[in-house]
Amino acid sequence: MTAALAATEICVFDAYGTLFDFNSAVARHRAAIGPKADALADLWRNKQIQYTWLRNSMGVYDKFWQVTGEALDHCLAAHSISDGSVREKLMSAYLALDAFPEVPAMLDRLTRAGKRLAILSNGNPEMLDPMVAASGLHFEAVLSVDAAKVFKPDARVYRLVEQHCGVKPDKVCFLSSNCWDAHGAAHFGFATVWVNRARAPDDNLPGKAVATIDDLSHLPALLGVS
Ligand code: LAC
Repeated sequence: MTAALAATEICVFDAYGTLFDFNSAVARHRAAIGPKADALADLWRNKQIQYTWLRNSMGVYDKFWQVTGEALDHCLAAHSISDGSVREKLMSAYLALDAFPEVPAMLDRLTRAGKRLAILSNGNPEMLDPMVAASGLHFEAVLSVDAAKVFKPDARVYRLVEQHCGVKPDKVCFLSSNCWDAHGAAHFGFATVWVNRARAPDDNLPGKAVATIDDLSHLPALLGVS
């Protein structure tokens, strides 16, 4: 077990990229998109997140669903894809993204060990709730930035965990595959684990994760769960 995680009362997971594979939307419709599918998937995610940071800077919040659609519109235009059915297919797929393969068994192990489980995501409830329901996974809370009307990594977002679950930050194990989100959460005060699925180099930002893992199958061991 990692010492900083010994006090963990609740595991709080980022959703997109950490529990759920946002690339599964594009993968499902690869044939309709054509050879630009992978480039489109990368640009879509980059623009989606960039737009949240820019909106935070401008003080102009809108729901993640809206931002995700606006990012997709930019990417479709950038790749000269004008078939309107592609937009519709990709946005629908975003409501039922695949969980990463190791997630169900990992959550089962934590649940059997009595760990509390929650999600904290940029997604708004109207997009998170159907995705979680379709996955069959169970969490005591699915927390959305929509309650704070600002996106990660604003501290008001991370504060939602104590407000809704009653757990102090140092007793929260926060998990994100997004390096910038891991830094933001660690800087806020969560015991943070970076799920470095992409084997990417670390970002040079405030806040330090207590551990880094390649995927979530390693989490139970970090928490001392057999
Ligand atoms: C989320 C994004 C950042 O679920 O992945 O909050």
